Amino acid sequence: MKILDWIDHRLPVITLFRKDLKDYPTPKNLNYFWNFGSLAGITLVIMILSGIFLAMHYTPHVEKAFDSVEQIMREVNGGWLIRYIHMNGASMFFIVVYLHIFRGLYYGSYKNPRELLWILGVIILLLMMASAFMGYVLPWGQMSFWGATVITNLFSAFPGGESIVQWLWGGFSVDNPTLNRFFALHYLFPFLLVGIVILHMVSLHQFGSNNPTGLDAKKKDKIPFHPYYTIKDLFGLAVFLSIYAFFVFFAPNFFGEPDNYIPANPLVTPPHIVPEWYFLPFYAILRSIPSKLGGVLAMFGAVLTLAVIPWLDRHPVRSATYRPIFKKLFWVMAVNAIVLGWVGAKPPEGMYLLIGRMATAYYFFHFIVLYPILTKYEKAKSVPEEIP
Ligand code: HEM
Repeated sequence: MKILDWIDHRLPVITLFRKDLKDYPTPKNLNYFWNFGSLAGITLVIMILSGIFLAMHYTPHVEKAFDSVEQIMREVNGGWLIRYIHMNGASMFFIVVYLHIFRGLYYGSYKNPRELLWILGVIILLLMMASAFMGYVLPWGQMSFWGATVITNLFSAFPGGESIVQWLWGGFSVDNPTLNRFFALHYLFPFLLVGIVILHMVSLHQFGSNNPTGLDAKKKDKIPFHPYYTIKDLFGLAVFLSIYAFFVFFAPNFFGEPDNYIPANPLVTPPHIVPEWYFLPFYAILRSIPSKLGGVLAMFGAVLTLAVIPWLDRHPVRSATYRPIFKKLFWVMAVNAIVLGWVGAKPPEGMYLLIGRMATAYYFFHFIVLYPILTKYEKAKSVPEEIP
C-alpha cells in the first residue's frame, strides 16, 4: 500500500517487523522447547493488560486494599475473571520461564556468542521475582503481610541493616507507605520487563536461535520464521491457553494459599508462612544456611550463579545431546530443583532441614565445581558436521 510505503520509508517499522518476525531465518530443527520464549512474551502482555484493569478498581491503602479486592471479585463486571487471570497468570508465567531456562541449560544456549542474551534473561528473572513478590502483598491478606514482613526483614542481616529495612518500609513496620510503594513499583516493573525483553530479542536476533544440536546453523538449514514457526507457536499457544484456562475456570485457587483470604493482622502470625510455589526452591536455600546473612547471600547467590554459567561451562560442545555426563547431571539438577521446592514448603527441621542442606550444597556444587571439571575432562560423543 502506498501510504504504508510512505510511512515505512520515513519510519521503517514495517521493514523491522518483516525482518524480525516474518523473514527471520530460523534453524529448521527447533523442537517444542523453543515455544516457551514466545509464550513468556504473550504471558507478559496478558499480565500487563489484566493488571491495568485490576488497578482501575484496586485501592492501595491498608484500610481498603483487602476489601477493594473482594469488591473486584463480587461487584465489578467480570472482575473475578480479570483477577483470576492475573493471579494464575503469575504461576503460568513462572512455569513457562522456568522451562525456558531449563531448555537453555540443556542445549547450552548460554554459550558464546549468546552470553549477554542469557544475562539479560537472568535480569528478567530477578525483575519478575521482585514484581511477583510485591504483587502478592497488594491484596493485604495474612500471607501478603507476613510474607512482606519476613522478606523485607532479611535485609536486616546486612551491616546497617535496620536502617535499610526501615528505608524499604518507609516507616517502622510494614504499613501503608510500604503497601503504596509496592503498588507503584509493581505497576512499573512489568514495563521495565518489556524494555529488557526487547533487548533480549535484539541480542537473540544478532546471532539467531540456537537449536537442539547446538551446531551453528548454516544458511541452508534455516527457514523463514513465518509461516513455519508462527504456526508452531500458535499451536503451542492454544495448548498453553487451554491449560491456563483450566486453572482460571476450574481451580483458580490451586496455586494460592487460603490464609491470604484472611485480612492482614499484624497481631496474629500465621502458623506457617510460605511463599508462592515459584519461590520455594530459593526459600529452601535461604533457610538451609544456619546464619541469617549466610542464608540471604546464598539465596541471592543462587540466582547470580546463573548469570556466570557461560564462564563456568566452557566445554566446546553446546548441546547436552552430545555430552553424556553433562546430560545425566542435567537431570540430577532438575530433580534437585524439585527437591528444593518440596523442602521449601516444609518446616525447616529434622529430615527436611538435612535434605534441604544437601540439595543446596548440590546446587552450588553442580554449577561451580562440576561445570568447570566437565569443561576440562568430559569427552563428547562424535558431533555431526552439520544439522542432520
Ligand atoms: C519475560 C521473560 C522472557 C521472555 C519474554 C523471553 C523471550 C524469549 C524469546 C521470544 C526467545 C526466542 C524463542 C525461544 O528460543 O524460546 C528467547 C530466547 C532465549 N532466552 Fe528468553 N525470554 C524470557 C526470559 C528468559 C530467561 C529468564 C532466560 C535465562 C535466564 C532466557 C534465556 C534465553 C536464551 C539463552 C535464549 C536463546 C535460546 C536459543 O536460541 O536456544 N530468557 N527468549
